[in-house]
Amino acid sequence: MDTLPVINVSGLDVEYRTATGPARALRDVEIAVHQGERVGLVGESGCGKSTLLRTVMGVLPPNGKATGGSIRLGDDDLLMMSGKERRRVSWAEISMIPQSALNALNPVKRIDAQILEAVRAHRKIGKREGRDLVARLFTMVGVDPARASDYPHQFSGGMRQRVLIAMSLALSPRLIVADEPTTALDVVVQDQIFRQLRALQEERSFAMILVTHDIALVVENCQRICVMYAGMIVETGATGDILATPRHPYTIGLLNAVSVLGRNREPIAIPGSPPNLFEKLDGCRFAPRCPLASARCHREVPENTDLGNGQHVRCHHHDQAEDFARRAGSPETWRQAHAGVDELR
Ligand SMILES: Nc1ncnc2c1ncn2[C@@H]1O[C@H](COP(=O)(O)OP(=O)(O)OP(=O)(O)O)[C@@H](O)[C@H]1O
Ligand SMILES: [Mg+2]
Repeated sequence: MDTLPVINVSGLDVEYRTATGPARALRDVEIAVHQGERVGLVGESGCGKSTLLRTVMGVLPPNGKATGGSIRLGDDDLLMMSGKERRRVSWAEISMIPQSALNALNPVKRIDAQILEAVRAHRKIGKREGRDLVARLFTMVGVDPARASDYPHQFSGGMRQRVLIAMSLALSPRLIVADEPTTALDVVVQDQIFRQLRALQEERSFAMILVTHDIALVVENCQRICVMYAGMIVETGATGDILATPRHPYTIGLLNAVSVLGRNREPIAIPGSPPNLFEKLDGCRFAPRCPLASARCHREVPENTDLGNGQHVRCHHHDQAEDFARRAGSPETWRQAHAGVDELR
């Protein structure tokens, strides 16, 4: 793509301070998202998806800190900004659709008041203009504007989630990050909400990062996929390419573990669990679970290799991926790797 990305995350490291020492939650993360693009971020629980979104949004908890890298929004590096500058950017330029509408909305405040409060933190807005804006936002996300003065508990889960989407759009940001925005909802409502988000995005062409456990949702909704493992992005590429020719053994395992649309395979779980984030790992973080791992994988962190078609992979043995993908459908392939872990240690 020849346009400049809306957001460009480069070499990002994030740590959480804990009683047992620093937990290295993100390592050398690279992700760029262009205008009008929807990128899906997938990976096992605890791999750092929310940490990445919170870092981009500038809402890490107090014990979390970016210790390296940059997050460029246009010409600005968000990590170099003062707290005040950062607050200007959050919501106005980048907004977030959180996972739980129940926790995100204040139960004792009317919904329109909450939306306008968020807007007023960034610009002056008169009564009339405010009312019009809320009505427009409600219409946009498919909720009757006559309900704008309701309290959150008067809304269904799906309606509350739509309100959060409306809130995220209120200041017309350039980037929206969504953390499991529909996990709590049934599939029908989930589908409606995504259809609406896609339509809104095509109309307003903001960039979007969608975090989800559900690969099928990414396949349906995102042009590009980033696969994360233990704090690193191990593979990224156009959705079609990742599905057709995944090059990282973890991606191949992940696609095995779910029944992705149109693939009639039995799901296979990858044996073992991700590494402890306190450990200093010299090699590839996936090596202990990887059937392709060689001695080099336990020693050297793989570089981010550009495969030429917009696909990037961090694996020393990506040239064996095609053959491996054929064997990966058999649980035996994975069991052997896991059985070998103890011998290596
Ligand atoms: N405030 C915190 N203090 C210490 N460690 C944290 C904190 N928040 C997250 N972590 C750790 O950082 C790692 C990444 O967590 P994160 O919430 O980003 O994962 P995730 O990919 O969003 O997982 P999930 O899919 O379960 O939401 C985890 O190991 C988690 O335990
Ligand atoms: Mg999360």
